[in-house]
Amino acid sequence: MRNKNEFDKYRTENSNQCPRFIKDSFTPIDPTRPITVRECRKDEASYRLYIENGQIDSAGLKTLHNSLRNTKYFLDFSANNGLITIEFGRYQELPKAFSFSEITQLLENNRDRGLFLGLGSFGEMFCSMDKFQHAILFGATGFGKSSFLRSLVSNILAFHDDCVCSFIDLKGIDFKGLEGLPGISLVGSTYPEAVSILDLILLEITLRKILFQQWQNPPRSLSEYNSWAPAAHLPELPRHILVIDEFRMLRESDCGYINENAMSRLEYILRVGRAYGIHLILSSQRDIDFTSNIVTNCSNCFFTFHGSNGGHAFYGELIDEAYRNKGLRAIPGMIAWINNDPDSKQKVYVQQTPYCNDFDMYAAASVLRSPKAKVWENYGFIPCSFSADVVNARCLGRAILAGVDLQDCNDEALMRFKESDKFLRLNTQDRIHQMVHKPENPAPADKKTEKTEPSLPERLRWESII
Ligand SMILES: Nc1ncnc2c1ncn2[C@@H]1O[C@H](COP(=O)(O)OP(=O)(O)OP(=O)(O)O)[C@@H](O)[C@H]1O
Ligand SMILES: [Mg+2]
Repeated sequence: MRNKNEFDKYRTENSNQCPRFIKDSFTPIDPTRPITVRECRKDEASYRLYIENGQIDSAGLKTLHNSLRNTKYFLDFSANNGLITIEFGRYQELPKAFSFSEITQLLENNRDRGLFLGLGSFGEMFCSMDKFQHAILFGATGFGKSSFLRSLVSNILAFHDDCVCSFIDLKGIDFKGLEGLPGISLVGSTYPEAVSILDLILLEITLRKILFQQWQNPPRSLSEYNSWAPAAHLPELPRHILVIDEFRMLRESDCGYINENAMSRLEYILRVGRAYGIHLILSSQRDIDFTSNIVTNCSNCFFTFHGSNGGHAFYGELIDEAYRNKGLRAIPGMIAWINNDPDSKQKVYVQQTPYCNDFDMYAAASVLRSPKAKVWENYGFIPCSFSADVVNARCLGRAILAGVDLQDCNDEALMRFKESDKFLRLNTQDRIHQMVHKPENPAPADKKTEKTEPSLPERLRWESII
């Protein structure tokens, strides 16, 4: 396989040099002159070498083929002036063979090391689940952001059964069809659905806060909570990973809606969610799509090639270092990782991530989970009941943001927020909200007593509060 950079040296004008593999396979038409590369053109996807005074027979073709064994090339004899053209794809050295399905054994054997990021110059790179927190991801279009997200999520679904994943993807292509698979919580592909998901997560944070406060010295992390919960007869809670692809579309959809609906919810989740096991991964084409509030709350930063030299809004020097010293190139699937962990000496890593297609994703979600895997009821959310009106008002998130105590959260209080949000008010048929917290009438008293263990809403008396 040829290294694409090797052709740059033939691009100098009047270069009389000729690559070895050409000399070995071509013979000169005029034996008194050498075979030369008249010109080397570099365009978006390929290098083209124009060979002068060269001819090739069937033995030469065989030699050429052998020396370019793993390289895709195209030989063109139709150029004018007797020149022969060889064209090489610039990105052909991609390790495409490295696919998600091929590394399942590696992932299986390394569950404890956390999320598999890819293969770097130091071998396999993992990011521990405890240090993962929130992350941003950016890079030019077509360099593998969505595929990286898919491989991360597949890894989580297959090997981390303490997590559930939700998606907001306003492009609506990359994560469609995952709904209903094990470990997948919610998938939103429209703006109202996105706001619904953020709303539900805000409510979930509030409910989790109540559970955490059952102890005088509350647990400091979700893992701590989960280790204490059984003794206190409280439910175990999953980690929620919310992946937002095409983040910029979500941010721009906020325009025209009073109080920047999605962004204010999102920034709140970024600030407090981590402690309750709610993590966000935000992906967009450019780093400047993220606000400084977002960047400061995201301890992990991933980026693919993004074609700009310097002048980055954030992490300027570290981004330059990824290009200069760590070998980040315009190769799909090659991802740099800025690790903000204070214990880590090295800050920037570059690795090739596995290619994860739809099939891998479905297989991870539905097949790879071990038979012992936990099944999270109610899409991984704490169940509670609301009246149909409250669900349709769908303003819980705004109420929580505004600091309304859920104890006082009656329909009237919610209506105030409903008024400020024209768009949401028009969408009374809220599919996502109703999937999670189904509107229902309080269960008859005798039914409640039949249960061996009171459900969480009963213990927190949610039905009477809301
Ligand atoms: N890990 C990988 N290894 C090899 N090729 C990859 C890898 N990831 C992505 N690719 C190639 O790059 C193409 C684009 O990937 P992807 O859709 O993930 O890009 P993207 O950054 O999300 O683009 P956009 O910004 O347009 O959404 C894929 O169809 C695939 O051919
Ligand atoms: Mg994408």
